[in-house]
Amino acid sequence: MNADVSHAAVSPAAPARKPRHIAIVMDGNGRWAQARHRPRTIGHRAGARAVNACIDACLDDGIEVLTLFAFSSENWRRPKEEVGALMQLFLRALDREVDELLRRGVRVRFVGERAAFAPELRSRMARAEELTRGNTRLHLCIAANYGGRWDIAQAARALALRAAAGDIDPARIDEHMLAPQIALSDLPDADLFIRTGGERRISNFLLWQLAYCELYFTDILWPDFDAAALRAAIADFAGRERRFGMTAAQIAAGATP
Ligand code: FPP
Repeated sequence: MNADVSHAAVSPAAPARKPRHIAIVMDGNGRWAQARHRPRTIGHRAGARAVNACIDACLDDGIEVLTLFAFSSENWRRPKEEVGALMQLFLRALDREVDELLRRGVRVRFVGERAAFAPELRSRMARAEELTRGNTRLHLCIAANYGGRWDIAQAARALALRAAAGDIDPARIDEHMLAPQIALSDLPDADLFIRTGGERRISNFLLWQLAYCELYFTDILWPDFDAAALRAAIADFAGRERRFGMTAAQIAAGATP
């Protein structure tokens, strides 16, 4: 965990120390709007613009996977008007951006329980996934109605059903058997977790996938998070020593996990 790094003179991290998968909790839209005496929804709109800037920076820097926490399973508890405005924003963003994402080589995926969304939004999500399925330059994973505990529970349920059907022996269930059932298991685990907006918590984001990631917290409010801010986080990551349970001496001798 760290303090902010100055944005000045920060260049993209050296390739060897670059995160493959960046996961972001985009916090601070409401406060950004409040500071301007504007409704919270204006902050979310500004947040959507920051999403575009972040995707551009990831494409420029050769990041393979970007996972964004757009709507948590707990966000339904927000005022009805704010939830409605967010749903409209997601719908419009999908309509507006999908062709450009397709053109730029971005594959879009949604992770979370989507049955709770309106049919119109669900069909836009499915269309975006279908249209961009062949892209490989950047995986953009949008966590929507997602919770890390939900993810682990649905994985456990999938194995329990297989055990009940006699396909697997429950006594043999271990983390290697559970891992493929967890969302995004076909992608590298998150290397770098970023949370904007000053809070220092994970808030039920990718609990399983964050097991060995480096945590980076910044006071910058999400709508102000730009390419320079992302590069500051990547540069900070480049300076971390990741040991995966090994000793510093083993790492220095070239051991890999
Ligand atoms: C948290 O800030 C932000 C959200 C719950 C919504 C995130 C949504 C966006 C960034 C908009 C667009 C996203 C996509 C993928 C198109 P907050 O409202 O909790 O801020 P606060 O802590 O200052 O109140």
